[in-house]
Amino acid sequence: MKKTVLVSGGAGFIGSHVTVELIEAGYDVIVADNMSNCDMTCFEGVKKITGKEDIPFFKIDFCKEEEVRKLFSDNKIDAVIHFAAFKAVGESVAKPVMYYKNNLNSFLNVLEAASAHGCHNVLFSSSATVYGEPDKVPVTENTPRKPATSPYGNTKQMCEDILQDTVKATKGTDGEIKGILLRYFNPIGAHPSALIGELPRGVPNNLVPFITQTAIGKRECLSIFGNDYPTPDGTCLRDYIDIVDLAKAHVFAVGRMLENKMKADCEIFNIGTGKPVSVLELVNSFERVNGLKLNYKFAPRRAGDVTAIWADPTLANKEMGWKAERSVDETLAAAWAWEKHLAGK
Ligand code: WQD
Repeated sequence: MKKTVLVSGGAGFIGSHVTVELIEAGYDVIVADNMSNCDMTCFEGVKKITGKEDIPFFKIDFCKEEEVRKLFSDNKIDAVIHFAAFKAVGESVAKPVMYYKNNLNSFLNVLEAASAHGCHNVLFSSSATVYGEPDKVPVTENTPRKPATSPYGNTKQMCEDILQDTVKATKGTDGEIKGILLRYFNPIGAHPSALIGELPRGVPNNLVPFITQTAIGKRECLSIFGNDYPTPDGTCLRDYIDIVDLAKAHVFAVGRMLENKMKADCEIFNIGTGKPVSVLELVNSFERVNGLKLNYKFAPRRAGDVTAIWADPTLANKEMGWKAERSVDETLAAAWAWEKHLAGK
């Protein structure tokens, strides 16, 4: 029988790409979202890409306990992937209560409802932000977590701990929960169809949407935050992971849970390429691949940025059989195609 996966926050950037890959892998998917940071563009795109018009969609607020409970009691859900969360680092510093309230309550409600209604598999979308400024790169899953540098990062660490404690506490009970934490590095790009991609509201915080919006003329100039870092070209190093590759990691992880292939009750995987790329290299690649010139300038460092972080993805490669496949060039071409699609070009 087909298994059903609930994707909370499934209308957003990562959630919509994951929904496509799950459907293409043969899962039934239920999408739920409160639409607080997206519109229906990506959900409509998902239907077009998959040719599936009847994907169940629920507009629910995961902070409302009764709504979450009803979703789990009305539907037979085999696994849940939890994305629904606020994700702007700077905003979380300005509005910590809003971040803790939303990101913690929504996850607690999901865990409680899953455990009470026979959904034993919970995948939590975590972040490389939990490593803070690492002493050594690349980071493995055993690299110690550093104190979070923002309330956003703190909610990721706290949700990781909450899931691990829940897995321990429910072991051997009717409400048993098994967990996987995927720690994403920097997801970028868009689906090759250019029908779904990143849709930031207002001024983008992240690098690639700022680049594409500058290239299309929505923003005047990209500021590269800092060129005096102790790196080869002075700009920060990150591990930019293609969004479709990242989405595929979820299919491997869900399969692992549902086919009882897990080696521990709560597993952690880094989802990255293992290759560091500097901000300047990324900008230069974007220009080269898409044959255009980008207006950019060097600006002071941004508060809270770490100098260099990239993944050691060996565990995900060996254990899950997943590997990042698309090159940064392909990814940057897809990001540009998506920006042009949005502009109707
Ligand atoms: C990448 C690099 C910037 C914008 C954050 C979160 C993480 C994850 C992804 C989110 C940095 C530089 C950026 C700009 C720039 N979570 N930059 N000019 O900070 O690595 O990670 O987003 O949902 O948890 O912490 O990603 O894309 O913001 O920045 O020079 O206009 O680009 O300084 O070096 P980051 P980013």
